[in-house]
Amino acid sequence: MKNHGAKKLNIAIIGAGKIGSAIAVSLQNHYNVVATRRRKIKDNLINGTIPVTRDNRQAASNADIIIVTVKPGQIIRVLQNIKDEVKGKPVISFAAAIPISMLKKAAPESQIIRAMTNIAVMAQSSYTVYAFSDNVTDENKKIAVEIFSKFGASREVDEKYIDAMTALSGSGPAYLYTVIEALTYGGLLIGLPRDIAMEAVAHTFIGTAKLLLSSKNHPAELKDMVVTPGGVTIEGIYELEDSRVRTAMMKAISAAFKKSKIIAEDIQKDSMKLLEE
Ligand SMILES: NC(=O)c1ccc[n+]([C@@H]2O[C@H](COP(=O)([O-])OP(=O)(O)OC[C@H]3O[C@@H](n4cnc5c(N)ncnc54)[C@H](OP(=O)(O)O)[C@@H]3O)[C@@H](O)[C@H]2O)c1
Repeated sequence: MKNHGAKKLNIAIIGAGKIGSAIAVSLQNHYNVVATRRRKIKDNLINGTIPVTRDNRQAASNADIIIVTVKPGQIIRVLQNIKDEVKGKPVISFAAAIPISMLKKAAPESQIIRAMTNIAVMAQSSYTVYAFSDNVTDENKKIAVEIFSKFGASREVDEKYIDAMTALSGSGPAYLYTVIEALTYGGLLIGLPRDIAMEAVAHTFIGTAKLLLSSKNHPAELKDMVVTPGGVTIEGIYELEDSRVRTAMMKAISAAFKKSKIIAEDIQKDSMKLLEE
């Protein structure tokens, strides 16, 4: 692709629902962004500024890069419909469960990039993992990585890990909000005002995660810095261990992964039928 760095690239976001709209908002100051939806929306604008159309083919045709954020069961049809418009262009799929091999069958002459992110893209603080199809050019890889950097942190992984990442970091905010809610209730139980308790918990999460990443210590070592023998924290830790909180977390990830495999099998069967039509 020519002119990288010389002009603002055009990005089409096909299927701008929850994730697609958040992606559109994260990118709008850096690229020319157009979004699409199946149904008409009020004002045909996202965030009051990003144009929305129902014409996927037109949006894809005008774009240098196409980001597809429709549901997994919809992506094969959507790609088949725009396959001529995405020839030779990078297409980034955020659809869970649909492997690069199937996406390539739907749009054979495009350069497929499969990615998974999470809802924290709304705060440009998500964690995005991605894998490239073997025909993606080095220049388009650079462009994709630049795009992912606008969502938060990101990392290239082997495609075989993306389904597991869907269960861990894609679904992750839902688990952590459950924990945040529980800790906040703990604060209410001991008499703290709701807003102070919630703010304290949220900042404790941010700080804890930042320290882990910056220190590179094992979480157990960092935890030990807080736990004084015979002190306050060990009482709380004892209760957590007694309630098998670690087992509960591991079981949650494992159950989500199992379910994602069952859903993937069903969707892939249906998608294969579409590809064979
Ligand atoms: N939600 C998350 O936390 C999350 C996290 C990581 C990845 N993902 C992935 O992101 C994808 C979207 O998830 P979501 O939660 O954002 O779903 P969503 O809110 O339902 O968004 C899907 C959007 O696709 C649009 N759409 C459907 N068919 C279309 C078509 N033929 N042409 C144009 N637009 C079309 C829908 O338009 P209408 O609104 O007009 O029907 C809707 O706005 C999924 O594949 C999911 O696996 C989601």
